[in-house]
Amino acid sequence: MKNSIKLIIGAAGQIGTELTLKLREMHTNSSVIASDIREGNDELMHSGTFEVLDATDKIAIQAVVEKHHISEVYLMAAMLSVTAEKHPKKAWDLNMNSLLHVLELAKEGVIKKVFWPSSIAVFGNSSPPIYTPQKTILEPTTVYGISKLAGENWCAYYKDKYNVDVRSVRYPGIISWKTKPGGGTTDYAVEIYHKALADGSYECFLAENTRLPMMYMDDAIKATVNLVNADLPKTFTSYNIAAIDFTPSEIAKSILKYIPAFKIKYSPDFRQKIAESWPESIDDSQAKRDWSWQHTFSLERMTEVMLENLKK
Ligand code: SER
Repeated sequence: MKNSIKLIIGAAGQIGTELTLKLREMHTNSSVIASDIREGNDELMHSGTFEVLDATDKIAIQAVVEKHHISEVYLMAAMLSVTAEKHPKKAWDLNMNSLLHVLELAKEGVIKKVFWPSSIAVFGNSSPPIYTPQKTILEPTTVYGISKLAGENWCAYYKDKYNVDVRSVRYPGIISWKTKPGGGTTDYAVEIYHKALADGSYECFLAENTRLPMMYMDDAIKATVNLVNADLPKTFTSYNIAAIDFTPSEIAKSILKYIPAFKIKYSPDFRQKIAESWPESIDDSQAKRDWSWQHTFSLERMTEVMLENLKK
């Protein structure tokens, strides 16, 4: 599959942008087609082909797939936890229909491989919160989590019934500097760096001791690329992947090393409840066993890289 043509749906988003750039660097610019409902940043738009694409429109997806002879689709378009709570029906339509369209195209043999991310949002208050296992109680409390859990089940169904090659990970909160995230509960861990540099202070919407599983973007991209190229067991798994976990006060402490006058204030809002329903840390031993997953970035190293790049 080395020279197969890839389509990223949702390429202008936080993860889609960097995934597209990484795949273009690994293969060729012309073999990685970016698409989104809106244009992305300059680096994305100038490094290769871009198609305006609504992920809920199956005919439009099929047209782009056929035009560019796509064989691999990375479906990164989604409405995240906070926005989805405000627009439940719209979130369900986007998160589910886009996935079903892509799975159908794979079932029909139009595309050969699908990557679709799930999330730690599939877990809920009844899941064990510390080193949350791969297989456990899944009772999500958010629309986003409900859609991701349903999506995991659809992926398993299409793989089992129609032998569709679909791969998935449960991303934790993803931290990066190139493109801002939007509408997530874990977004505070990106905002905090922006505000620390711009204002020297940050008002956090989560409480100081709320621990969440997180990951630096480079690790998330590495996981995605490695999983897509791995030889996997026959049954579908949306893999738990872990890197670091921290609280707002711990990330603030790591920033203080570089910005000694940095001040943080805690004003938890409705997002606190979402965060509390999610795990504090993740057991990713199955990903380690099945495709040798291993993260690289620590909290310290991430803070160094985030501040260094955002300063430029
Ligand atoms: N980052 C996502 C969110 O906060 C979780 O997958 O919604």
